[in-house]
Amino acid sequence: MQLETERLILREMVPGDFDALYRIFSDPETMQHYPKPFDEAKVHSWIDWNRENYQVFGFGLWAVVLKKTGEVIGDCGITMQNIGGKIKPEIGYHIRRDLWRRGYAKEAAGICQDWVFEHTTFGALYSYMKYTNIGSYSTAIANGMRLVEQFEDDANTVTKVYGITRDEWLEMKK
Ligand SMILES: CC(C)(COP(=O)(O)OP(=O)(O)OC[C@H]1O[C@@H](n2cnc3c(N)ncnc32)[C@H](O)[C@@H]1OP(=O)(O)O)[C@@H](O)C(=O)NCCC(=O)NCCS
Repeated sequence: MQLETERLILREMVPGDFDALYRIFSDPETMQHYPKPFDEAKVHSWIDWNRENYQVFGFGLWAVVLKKTGEVIGDCGITMQNIGGKIKPEIGYHIRRDLWRRGYAKEAAGICQDWVFEHTTFGALYSYMKYTNIGSYSTAIANGMRLVEQFEDDANTVTKVYGITRDEWLEMKK
């Protein structure tokens, strides 16, 4: 499984990606919308969880590799998430902080969105986040998603849910 964009390759995570992913997930600013940054054990289990998802679902969060340097600069992909009590396909992304605002998340998420509608039967795809996570919802909006739901919860105080239907995606691709 490999996806390619102009500047990026998305491929399955492997245990050898630990150092690059730990650098991203242990960073307090990157993880400011999570309960806390990941420690080493959590990054190992993150890799294991995604590798298990590839087997079970045929997708997961994939490693994002910068073609120019070959470095793993983040992850992006699809996981099944409980969003407001319903299990839905969610697109997620994390990019190394020194590389923010260069369009990498938008580029990676765009190809994942295409992949979902071309290779699965899902009728819609979602992204959900804490209401303060501007980078996350701006990336969702940049890829044609719109706010579909907003609710209060313990984890995020307020959770915002963005989504795009298959028909909306088809319209966007015309
Ligand atoms: C969310 C995240 C992946 C975005 O990565 P990125 O590579 O910087 O995003 P991009 O450069 O592709 O930007 C995508 C769009 O969002 C906008 N954007 C990104 N970060 C933004 C910010 N902090 N404030 C306002 N707009 C922002 C960009 O302007 C762009 O919109 P445009 O195409 O209309 O100009 C990155 O901020 C990150 O890793 N955050 C921490 C992890 C996280 O919270 N992930 C989401 C979990 S729900």
